Amino acid sequence: MRLTIIPGSPLNGEVTLPGDKSLSHRAALFAALALGESRVENFLDSGVTRAMLNALTALGVRWELNGRCLIVTGRGFVGLHAPEHPLNCGNSATTLRLLTGALAAVGIPAVLDGSPSLRSRPMGRIVEPLRQMGVEIEAVKDCAPLTLHRSRQPLKPLEYTMPVASAQVKTCLLLAALGADGPSSVIEPALSRDHTERMLRSMGVNIRSDTIPGQTGVLHRTVLDPARCCPLLPLNLTLPGDFSSAAFLIVAALITPGSLVKIRGVGLNSARTGLLDALLSMGAKIKITSQTMLGGEPAGDLIVQHSPLLATRVGGEQVVRMIDEFPIFAIAASFARGDTTVEDASELRLKESDRISALVAELSRVGVQAQERNDGFFIQGGEKPAGGTIQPHGDHRLAMSLAVLGLAATSPVMIENAEIMEESFPGFVETFRNLGAKIVES
Ligand code: S3P
Repeated sequence: MRLTIIPGSPLNGEVTLPGDKSLSHRAALFAALALGESRVENFLDSGVTRAMLNALTALGVRWELNGRCLIVTGRGFVGLHAPEHPLNCGNSATTLRLLTGALAAVGIPAVLDGSPSLRSRPMGRIVEPLRQMGVEIEAVKDCAPLTLHRSRQPLKPLEYTMPVASAQVKTCLLLAALGADGPSSVIEPALSRDHTERMLRSMGVNIRSDTIPGQTGVLHRTVLDPARCCPLLPLNLTLPGDFSSAAFLIVAALITPGSLVKIRGVGLNSARTGLLDALLSMGAKIKITSQTMLGGEPAGDLIVQHSPLLATRVGGEQVVRMIDEFPIFAIAASFARGDTTVEDASELRLKESDRISALVAELSRVGVQAQERNDGFFIQGGEKPAGGTIQPHGDHRLAMSLAVLGLAATSPVMIENAEIMEESFPGFVETFRNLGAKIVES
């Protein structure tokens, strides 16, 4: 599918977004490990979460999705059976890394594989600590396919310091720790999203977090004690809207003159909202109202108004708090007056695409002054980008970000292979059209 974005129409109105992607993955998998029926409202039905659900089917788990309501019949760890074929995790690193941890805890053999893009992403970061726990696991040059052998239970407790903050690695190891015969601790250099900790705690798992001094600053420790926590209690919750999807609407409203948009019931976990802080420091007019808790997570409404933006600098722990938002942040930076710098962000090279080089390449095509740095990028913003044809590099967030740029460019932007957006934000085009955007499909 090819999308043509016709610039110049302001965005006005209210939206409620599908549930958070990270929470949807966790809710489906954790519910499968629990004993009893779980009910998850506002579940995200998208490409990547379908990969998780299909893998659960292959493991013998029964689930039903009615609209946005997911019902999972959990039968505890014993309810998962060794799959007959390799589990296809598609493009979803979250599916692959989280499932690997869960299957290590259960102890069943499986092969976990995915698309060529997923096969290029680093898996040594979970393989090495899992081996320390006694898990027999093989990788192909530290990448998928991963082969898990039947492991002798229980696993050894783990004490592990992660070189890079990553919620996927942390979650993989915490899930594996459910199958250990003593408490495990996972330490990270900055706090990555803590959805797993919150959700597992609500399912009766003994899990606590604190900070400890490290050589170069504070470290974040999570300790999970598997004693007395099996079986996991089923879930009954409503997921907040995905902040990472809201990010596209937020930046779209900020850069498109005449826009005023309200986004209802968005997840506002501070480990996810680094983009809000960055945009506010750039002069964005964003109001947070109706703050509440949804599905064990902070949530609220966002009211966003078109605003002139000024350049900023992002680095350090803020990078972890906005790790998925750099493509859309780069669009805001392109419209902001002055020089924006992003540093300490080399993880961006290991996402669905190399988000540093792919972003800079595509922004340059539409006339934005952007340069690569080893660990980030530099954008000289303030001039309206021109239109042009964009390749999303198989990256859903790149495709959606460049579509947003098109709303306020000087001429139309064409996005090739735009169906990749469905991986995380089904209904992206419809949502934007309902607010007034002019987008043509061909
Ligand atoms: C995710 C964690 C992040 C993020 C990804 C989802 C999660 O990855 O980029 O989209 O659900 O735990 P890393 O843990 O690799 O940083």
